[in-house]
Amino acid sequence: MSTKPATPRGMHDLYGEKLDQYTTLATLCFKRAKRFGCQGIQTPILESIDVFKRTLGETSDVIGKEMYVLEDKGGDLLALRPEGTAPVVRALINNAIATQNPQTKWAYYGPMFRYERPQKGRYRQFHQFGVESFGIDDPFHDAEIIHLGNCLLQDLGLNGLYTLELNTLGDIGSRLSFRQALVEYFSRYQSDLSPDSLERLFKNPLRILDSKDKKDQEIAQNAPVFKDYLSKESAQYFEKVQKGLSLLNIDFKLNQKLVRGLDYYTHTAFEFTTPHLGAQATILAGGRYNRLMKELGGPDISGIGFAIGVDRILDLPCKLENQKQLTVYLMSLSEAEFETLFVLSQKLKESPVTAVTCFSYNLSKNLKKAHKEGAHFALILGEDELKQNKVLVKNLDLGTQELVCLESLSSYLLKN
Ligand code: HAM
Repeated sequence: MSTKPATPRGMHDLYGEKLDQYTTLATLCFKRAKRFGCQGIQTPILESIDVFKRTLGETSDVIGKEMYVLEDKGGDLLALRPEGTAPVVRALINNAIATQNPQTKWAYYGPMFRYERPQKGRYRQFHQFGVESFGIDDPFHDAEIIHLGNCLLQDLGLNGLYTLELNTLGDIGSRLSFRQALVEYFSRYQSDLSPDSLERLFKNPLRILDSKDKKDQEIAQNAPVFKDYLSKESAQYFEKVQKGLSLLNIDFKLNQKLVRGLDYYTHTAFEFTTPHLGAQATILAGGRYNRLMKELGGPDISGIGFAIGVDRILDLPCKLENQKQLTVYLMSLSEAEFETLFVLSQKLKESPVTAVTCFSYNLSKNLKKAHKEGAHFALILGEDELKQNKVLVKNLDLGTQELVCLESLSSYLLKN
């Protein structure tokens, strides 16, 4: 027997109902984001490796270990996108959108790729629905974007299943003095730090606060806290973000250890977490990134956004409306009625009904199949029905049946 090629590790085939869930979720999210003024955007799955190297941070796990990189036949180094923010910023610069209109809002959905160790909720190909907003430097706008995230989770029926965690990463000046204090503090423990943290000590000591290593965590307990190094302006900005959230009645928990895994953030950082998914608890994450566009060679325009981990959300008991469409099975009793039935079935597909044509005349087999597939109605066309220009409509949930005129069939089905 020949061996079968395996599905790539940490990646999944999506089909049938599961794939429907992804599509429905994306549709719901786009609908809501539009109400907040977002337009849709789609960037290529491959980007020049520079887009990420220049923005996500040399010491971030994504750049250090997780990028899928390939060289194309022309010798260009391309990366499968590990996230959506830097590509959206690149697209805005390249299409001269940012210079024409500095204030725009965007929503996107699609697969992202990170070479991580796969486990529940952590995949090598995963899906994000993301939002990015540019050019509005008001702390209440940060609250507005977090509000959008909160609305999306509520639309998905996740009310009560998550907590909003909030922190500030301040402006560059505050970051530099905090960084200095951290280097001084952690340098005293060089022999006890994990190899990862030791490597980060001089490059990005903030990430040591985020370490999962037990000993690192113990050492970090007495490390300097950012709030003591925040500039007055940064502290005031953060106060106002919190005020905005309170005005909108959005509960949040301050978490000084929330530093985010990507380096482009400034000021507000936030994560929506859930206790229902084990180790991979973050279902939506984001923050402000005021320097990213400039770092990628564009104008000096600020941004803020977030991304939802779609695969994780779908592991939660979310409620996706309109998921089940009305499904009907159409069956004729003989070849004589089939033509009429066939046309009827195609017509029904023009209304919001899933219409399945049965191509055989074995009534009991067809009914069995319709039941098995969870259809709502069976439409049966025999010689007598055809003569009266009617069809027998069997309600498969209730077991009742009724003769219905062919002309009024679609309105009858949608009403019942
Ligand atoms: P991130 O925190 O790297 O941020 O990812 C956002 C979300 O994507 C995570 O909270 C998680 O739900 C999901 N996610 C990340 N990695 C995986 C994985 N390997 N498997 C399954 N789900 C995963 C960003 O990507 C930023 N671009 C978010 C952002 C947008 N910030 C500003 N604008």
